[in-house]
Amino acid sequence: MRITVLTGGASAERTVAFAGAAQIVEALRGRGHKVEVVDTVTGLLSPGDERQLLTGAVGREPPSVAELDAREREFLSNGLSKLDAVKGADVLLLCLHAGRGEGGTLQAILDVIGAPYTGSGAMASALAMDKDLSKRLFRAAGVPVPAWFMAPVAPEDVTTALGWPAIVKPSRMGSSVGMTLVRSAKGLDPAVELARQYDSEVMVEQFIPGRELTVGVLGDVPLPVGEIVPKHELFDYECKYTPGMSEEIFPAKLDTKLARQLQELALAAHRALKLGGYSRVDFRLSPDGDIFCLEANTLPGMTRTSLLPQAARAAGVEFPELCERICRLAGNSGSRRGGNI
Ligand SMILES: Nc1ncnc2c1ncn2[C@@H]1O[C@H](COP(=O)(O)OP(=O)(O)O)[C@@H](O)[C@H]1O
Ligand SMILES: [Mg+2]
Repeated sequence: MRITVLTGGASAERTVAFAGAAQIVEALRGRGHKVEVVDTVTGLLSPGDERQLLTGAVGREPPSVAELDAREREFLSNGLSKLDAVKGADVLLLCLHAGRGEGGTLQAILDVIGAPYTGSGAMASALAMDKDLSKRLFRAAGVPVPAWFMAPVAPEDVTTALGWPAIVKPSRMGSSVGMTLVRSAKGLDPAVELARQYDSEVMVEQFIPGRELTVGVLGDVPLPVGEIVPKHELFDYECKYTPGMSEEIFPAKLDTKLARQLQELALAAHRALKLGGYSRVDFRLSPDGDIFCLEANTLPGMTRTSLLPQAARAAGVEFPELCERICRLAGNSGSRRGGNI
């Protein structure tokens, strides 16, 4: 196949995207595919650019995005559709996180260009990026979610309806960026202010103690459940991207019935948002054994050691094959049929 990987992007998760792209490119070239790489900020990468950018290092802090934003706008408006690597590709593989690449804007542009791409369509991507809307749809589909308010909310209402500690997070972000575990009423305002630096919509959510579980979905089939045991109380940015800062167990040690229930809920969440191709759905399991769905990720991390690739491996699908399967599933997204968002 002729595959063009779209990566980088103007978001706080730019370096995370490059880390995944580096390994995807290597795996797909290793399987004999013709692979080119396009950064949605700077355009087609030369072999020299690839060596420099696809180093695989993520760093402890996310980069600033303001300066990248204008360049990405310009490239997506005027550069992308003219590239041979886009016009001639059998499939565009999206390895982007947050921003226009995960939130549906790029998907809508690609629908207009008429280029086939991996993962979810524009509407589904936008829904999954918005935790508030996602949770409403999950709840309607019978997928349990933690209780929440959208800010502003009075501390007394948090005390009554959610209790402390509570989680404050930007509604449309990822990688735990801008998130705070707030232990009492006086911490609420500063936490909302911090989250607002990343998104005008801020969610204040019931904290669910207990275990952290994740379920990948590949082409409508849920993969084995994984458990994450972070070194910090939350699965934060540092734990997500620093080797050794979290333990990841695939398959999770769970009673078979509970594991099956999580897989069913993951598929229900995937379908509730009309996701396409593949996704990864995050859960908490309370000490009482209650399941809560936190979110669905349409473009989950894709280094060899990321959660979805580990889940696939537990199901007997090695990383290069996973990358190929994701490419083959492109355009099979239910939400994309008909072309409208
Ligand atoms: N309501 C919650 N209760 C307990 N932990 C939470 C809650 N919300 C988020 N977390 C912790 O923060 C991490 C990231 O939150 P999540 O909602 O998945 O956002 P992101 O899009 O940043 O991954 C979770 O994996 C979990 O460890
Ligand atoms: Mg998450």
